[in-house]
Amino acid sequence: MNPFILSGYKSPKYFCDREIETERVLNAMENSRNITLVSERKIGKTALLNHVENLSNNKVVFIYIDLYPTQKLNDFIKILANKLLQKLEPFSEKVLRNITQFFKSINPKFSIDPQSGIPNLELSINTVREAEESIHLLFKYLRHSQKKVTIAFDEFQQILTYPEKNIEALLRSEIQNDNESCFIFSGSHTHFLLSIFNEYSRPFYQSTEIMELKKINIDKYAPFISNHFTENDKQINTSQVEHIYNINRGITYNVQYLSNKLYSLEVNKITTEFIDETLVQIVKENEITYYNYRELLSGFHFKILKSIAQEEIVEKPFSGSFLRKHNLGSASSVKSATTILQNKGLIITDYE
Ligand SMILES: Nc1ncnc2c1ncn2[C@@H]1O[C@H](COP(=O)(O)OP(=O)(O)OP(=O)(O)O)[C@@H](O)[C@H]1O
Ligand SMILES: [Mg+2]
Repeated sequence: MNPFILSGYKSPKYFCDREIETERVLNAMENSRNITLVSERKIGKTALLNHVENLSNNKVVFIYIDLYPTQKLNDFIKILANKLLQKLEPFSEKVLRNITQFFKSINPKFSIDPQSGIPNLELSINTVREAEESIHLLFKYLRHSQKKVTIAFDEFQQILTYPEKNIEALLRSEIQNDNESCFIFSGSHTHFLLSIFNEYSRPFYQSTEIMELKKINIDKYAPFISNHFTENDKQINTSQVEHIYNINRGITYNVQYLSNKLYSLEVNKITTEFIDETLVQIVKENEITYYNYRELLSGFHFKILKSIAQEEIVEKPFSGSFLRKHNLGSASSVKSATTILQNKGLIITDYE
């Protein structure tokens, strides 16, 4: 098996470091503090949540909910209802009776997936009032469970795209009423996610502890990579491992991907040439995606994206020297264009 995992989570053996971060999340869970977990794309938020879930298995009920596929409040309710049903206690006739009684005002209907045996709960929601009532009942059901529960909402900023209004206020008041559970709000669109928690006029203002996940430190990542190669009789030296980290700027997914590809080469000794050739091959594989950006963006936006990419890191994107060098025109138009590129997640601002 290739030890460099590219999706999801397998076990601590294939998970590098994050000891301080894991402790911090576990401590917040134990003490019922809510957390907002942010980072740039592909650094490892979801994997960290999976890792914490893996470690906390018997002590708390850890409910991971990926909100990425949800598009409206009803989707949110459906996914939350089913996760609570599946994770709070083992399904039985008694649970079924309790839930039917508990949710009777919103007409619950059950079915069991014949293949997986997983129970499924449908709530009949047709009006805003019924939706609000459902949310209220779901959180009440959670509070009544008498269990130590953590709910991690991944891609939480997705709620901003729902057509319904007042969702933030609705969720905030329910979450505020729950002194026992811990809620984790995680997301890859840092800018949107932080706006929920950092803007004075919004319901969630300063209601959580903000935790920014940084890149895995090279001092931890290099031995992790090195050990996985050598354990499987593949030679690689320290400077080559550091080269893998540095050419990927420490972005976890990219480091994992290149390591995965190198590991799969049928050679016993990794050379610097292999590393560079494999990187070029990866970039070529993604060529179609990069061409696609050109189709999806206006000519001006693509030109800015390309200029920034050529520089790799631009400290002063509105300075005369950068604008002149790439022939980009006025600082004000570049400013509004960079905001759009940032909202699309194509460029990031790093304040380090
Ligand atoms: N500590 C780690 N050790 C080893 N691999 C990791 C670690 N953290 C994350 N990964 C791997 O890196 C990749 C990206 O991680 P993950 O999907 O958790 O990032 P993310 O920040 O949630 O990304 P996105 O912004 O797309 O939601 C995955 O393949 C995951 O398996
Ligand atoms: Mg993620």
